[in-house]
Amino acid sequence: MTKRTILITGAAGFVGHHMVEHILKNTDFNIIGIDSLSYSGSLDRLRDIQIDPFHHPRFTHMGYDFRQPAGPNLIRELASVTHVLHMGAESHVDRSIADPMSFVMANVVGTTNMLELARGLPQMELFIYFSTDEVFGPVPLDPAYPGHQETAVHSPKNPYAATKSSGEQMVTAFANTYGIPCIITRQMNIFGERQHPEKFIPKVIRSVLSGAVVPIHATPDKTQAGMRHYIHARNVADAHMFLLEKRPWIGNACGHVESYHIVGEREVDNLQLALMIERFVRDLAPASGLKVAGLCYEMVDFHSSRPGHDLRYALDGRKMKALGWQPPKNFEESLKKTVQWSLENPGWLSNP
Ligand SMILES: NC(=O)c1ccc[n+]([C@@H]2O[C@H](COP(=O)([O-])OP(=O)(O)OC[C@H]3O[C@@H](n4cnc5c(N)ncnc54)[C@H](O)[C@@H]3O)[C@@H](O)[C@H]2O)c1
Repeated sequence: MTKRTILITGAAGFVGHHMVEHILKNTDFNIIGIDSLSYSGSLDRLRDIQIDPFHHPRFTHMGYDFRQPAGPNLIRELASVTHVLHMGAESHVDRSIADPMSFVMANVVGTTNMLELARGLPQMELFIYFSTDEVFGPVPLDPAYPGHQETAVHSPKNPYAATKSSGEQMVTAFANTYGIPCIITRQMNIFGERQHPEKFIPKVIRSVLSGAVVPIHATPDKTQAGMRHYIHARNVADAHMFLLEKRPWIGNACGHVESYHIVGEREVDNLQLALMIERFVRDLAPASGLKVAGLCYEMVDFHSSRPGHDLRYALDGRKMKALGWQPPKNFEESLKKTVQWSLENPGWLSNP
């Protein structure tokens, strides 16, 4: 059997480096990581994980900016690649509102360049496009309202979501037009160690320590905080390896792109989440010799003041469940471990 080699874009990003760690620990895939090291990418993430990938025989890293088309030399160098996991992207909604064109370049042009590259790979078996719940737009705040199924119609409401949705359309077009085997996975809010400090969970840990005020997105009357399903990055990586082993799409018609929703076990509102984090910080900080100021928060009608921010996204996870997958790591335990790790490694709370 040919040795499997997976090309992971955005390998030095937050989710990407967890994916590298999980795949090295749990599979026999060779990995080629590529990353342009934008403001959110850092090789230190990879250096910091338990298995040092830079001294691992199954890992190679290459600098490449996928906004540029891959030349023939790069395609030749990647000839052994059997799987592409395209997760590199511009990923922060606020930045997409400030500068939408840079998101079009990275997420639409970049995805098209990666599909073109995949088209030239002689051993290509599968292209996986890593997408988001945000492509469907918001759902009502009532938790009884079910999440979107895989076949729901896209209705993105901010430039980030629109570029991820456009990336999905290019994947579908390449599968249909050129017969490249592709699947799409959609994830909800991901958390874990070494997340960029601009994201909600590191921000809350930092402000529980310092006493700085955290804005919590809420309804216009500021009584109900926005809600999210949170999932640890290791669970996301586990879901992808589950799919790669089970390959439930085999037998589908050529050109058909199957999609899968990777859903965390619990939905929480952002105030509940901030209070849970505060409880963990209060319990754990003394052991690291850190002082705790306590949580100060302000409910903010974010959508009216900053259109593009949605209060609730929801995905239906029944398809993955029916295939036999459920998140192996418990939400509360994973959150507690992430808080503990952040307190023991406070440099990551301020530097990417
Ligand atoms: N983090 C979440 O909660 C979440 C939720 C749903 C979906 N996603 C998706 O997961 C993926 C990874 O998200 P993340 O949170 O790890 O983001 P991240 O910003 O931490 O990582 C993105 C990585 O992509 C790299 N990159 C960006 N532009 C590039 C380019 N032009 N060429 C090469 N590399 C480039 C960056 O340097 C960075 O290392 C993204 O596709 C995002 O849309 C993330």
